[in-house]
Amino acid sequence: MSIIISNHKNKMKIAESFGSASKSYDVSARLQRFSGKHLMPWLPKKNALTVLDLGSGTGFFTDVLASSYDQVIGLDFSKKMLDFAKSCRNKNIVWLEADAHKVPLQNETVDFIYSNLVLQWCQPLDIAIKEMLRVLKPGGTIVFTTLVDGTLHELKSSWEKVDDDQHVIDFKTEQQLGEYFNTSHSIIVEHKCQDVTLDYQNVIHLARELKGLGANHLPRKKNRGLSGKDKWFAMTEHYKRFLKPNDIYPATYRLYSGLVVKLSS
Ligand SMILES: C[S@@+](CC[C@H](N)C(=O)[O-])C[C@H]1O[C@@H](n2cnc3c(N)ncnc32)[C@H](O)[C@@H]1O
Repeated sequence: MSIIISNHKNKMKIAESFGSASKSYDVSARLQRFSGKHLMPWLPKKNALTVLDLGSGTGFFTDVLASSYDQVIGLDFSKKMLDFAKSCRNKNIVWLEADAHKVPLQNETVDFIYSNLVLQWCQPLDIAIKEMLRVLKPGGTIVFTTLVDGTLHELKSSWEKVDDDQHVIDFKTEQQLGEYFNTSHSIIVEHKCQDVTLDYQNVIHLARELKGLGANHLPRKKNRGLSGKDKWFAMTEHYKRFLKPNDIYPATYRLYSGLVVKLSS
């Protein structure tokens, strides 16, 4: 029971963080734009399809999908993200305020699911995957990106030198993703794992970008306040190990992209 309550609380906090970033998200979303575009070659060529954008955020890619497919649904659990998307995206898109762990759609009604940088927030991930496969028609496809272990390793290891609190969310490994999707119900037919390194002027720039995206809720963080000035200073000194020429602070995002097919039972 207590796990269920804490999971629910955690989801509400994640939705709140993303919601408070709905207006700053699009200007901060350089990784999200890169990863979302890079899924385009895997998109189905047929147009008469029902498509679900799972974790649609501000609806940038939902809008792109709506220019190709007959029926497009954008689903997100942040009302503020949905309100933003509704205000500026294609009027034919159907928007659903819902949790990826409980998708309010009938079994086998969707031809194709697109999900860009959402699954790293879904806990427990197996339930979200089960839901995707439930609403997908047999033979339907899922194309997704997520971040895996190794993401923000510079920030994580610099904080580990200073305290034992959580400063970076827990990411699944590439192998775990394989285990989740390669089952008797579905198979990964193509995948790619790559390190994308973004440059920052300093660590505050990185922290501000994560906040601007709403990607800053840490479920296991013990000390909820701001970390003290001394700790910040010590952490940034450790981060300097990774400095690139011209005093650029790099941050690595280990990006996993997958094309999954639902098998016929
Ligand atoms: C990093 S943003 C990505 C948004 C969009 N896919 C894009 O490419 O810009 C993650 C989005 O997933 C949503 N999200 C996270 N966990 C979710 C869940 N369990 N159910 C529904 N939406 C979720 C967040 O509210 C947020 O809008």
